[in-house]
This record gives sequence, C-alpha cells and structure tokens, in this order.
Amino acid sequence: MANRTLTFSVFRFNPYDPDFGPRMQEYIVEETPRMTLFTALTLIREEMDPSLQFDFVCRSAVCGSCAMLVNGHPRLACRTRTDELPAKIVLHPLPFFRLIGDLSVDTGSWFAEMAHRVESWVHTTETFDPDAEEARMSNDQALSVYELERCIECGCCVAACATAQMRDDFLGATGLLRIARFWIDPRDQRTDADFYDVVGTDAGVFGCVGLLACHDYCPKNLPLMEQLAYLRRRVMFASLRSAVGKKERQPEEQEATR
Ligand code: FES
Repeated sequence: MANRTLTFSVFRFNPYDPDFGPRMQEYIVEETPRMTLFTALTLIREEMDPSLQFDFVCRSAVCGSCAMLVNGHPRLACRTRTDELPAKIVLHPLPFFRLIGDLSVDTGSWFAEMAHRVESWVHTTETFDPDAEEARMSNDQALSVYELERCIECGCCVAACATAQMRDDFLGATGLLRIARFWIDPRDQRTDADFYDVVGTDAGVFGCVGLLACHDYCPKNLPLMEQLAYLRRRVMFASLRSAVGKKERQPEEQEATR
C-alpha cells in the first residue's frame, strides 16, 4: 500500500502564556512504514515545531506517559500505529487531568493523591525483618496480585470514564483496581470493614454507572470489569456482615442503654 500523506490536527494551548489561547494546529506528515503516533509527533517536533508539548519516556507501553485522545479515543501514542487510523488524525490531551500544555497532562499528581487515599501499601503489624524469608503465598494468589500490578497508570481508563467527568473525587477504575489488589493480598491485614470505608462510597465502587469505557480503553487489557464486579460483591458481603453484626449486638446495646 502506498504511504499516505497524513494531516495531524493537534490541540495547542499554553496555560502559562495569555497570548497562546486554545486552538487546533495542522501539520502534514508523510507516513512511513510502521509509523506510530509517537514517531510522527517526534518528527513534527524535530522538523516543524519544537514548541509542541507531549510526553513519552519508554516508547513501549510501559511508562504510561504518552496517553492522549486520538480521534476522540484515549490511546497510547507509542502503541498506536498510523496505519490503523484515517489520514486525518485529531489529537487532544486527556481530559480530567491538569493540562500542562498542548498534549501534555499531569497524571502524576492525581495518581499520587489516589494512592494516598486508598492507602496503597500492605498494612501489617509485623515488624519488617530484612533477614527474614519472603512471606509465602500460593501461586494462584501471587498470579492474581501480579495481574493487578500491571497497571501502567496512563490514565486512559479515567479519561474515558463518565463518572470521572462528573465528579473529580471519583477513584476511577485504576483506584478500584488498586483496592482489589490489596484486598486479595493475604499479607494485608486490613479487615473488610477497613476496605469498605475506603471504597464503599459514591466516590468509590458505588459511583460507577457501569458504562465500562474503562474496560474498553485500557491499553494493557486489565480485567477492570471483573474487578469491579469482585469489589461490588465484597462490599455487599462486608455491609451484610456489618448489618448482621449490628443486629446481633442490639440486645447488648439495649441492655447498655437501660
Ligand atoms: S512512552 Fe511509555 S507508555 Fe508510551
């Protein structure tokens, strides 16, 4: 197939320069075999416009920094080949995250705050002993934890999420995935009630309206839909247990208040 002439229409905006208002700018690029959006953007920056801002680090779908809206859909620039797209390619920065400039957004601050909110670490009362053997878990458990550790924090799931567009405190699929990762980890000593406190709110598992765009757009094909169902079941059982516990405690409580 003959290489095409591609027209890139790229969102440009520098929030720190009052004279540089939001606008779309066009660049014409000759397509080369196996060209990716990353290589096209690099060519534009190196040969046409050094002021164009976009992010990348790994160029191999590992660091998560090159996510952007490609013809309206969240995708990784380094993993998207131009021959999968029409000759007119429209690029916008990911919505929801703070815009740094052009196609560059600050996902890092949001992910750091989310990790803090969900207390994204193994909670244990055991003292750390660097000479001790590694804690053991079954192969199945280790594989399940590993599967949920594959998130590269690109933000595609949050950018695609209807709830996140309506409420900026929503944990998003990536935050819920993080909770599921620690809930299944046998080393984490948090109780169901502890996890419920973190995720059992409208900013957590009850905020999801179930459109599942997160699942459609995750570039790592993480099992976001399954994890959402898993969390919903667990919070339901946690709340049922808590309700039963309250019922059982009622006579004592009545006794105590007499
Ligand atoms: S540059 Fe790292 S994921 Fe694209």
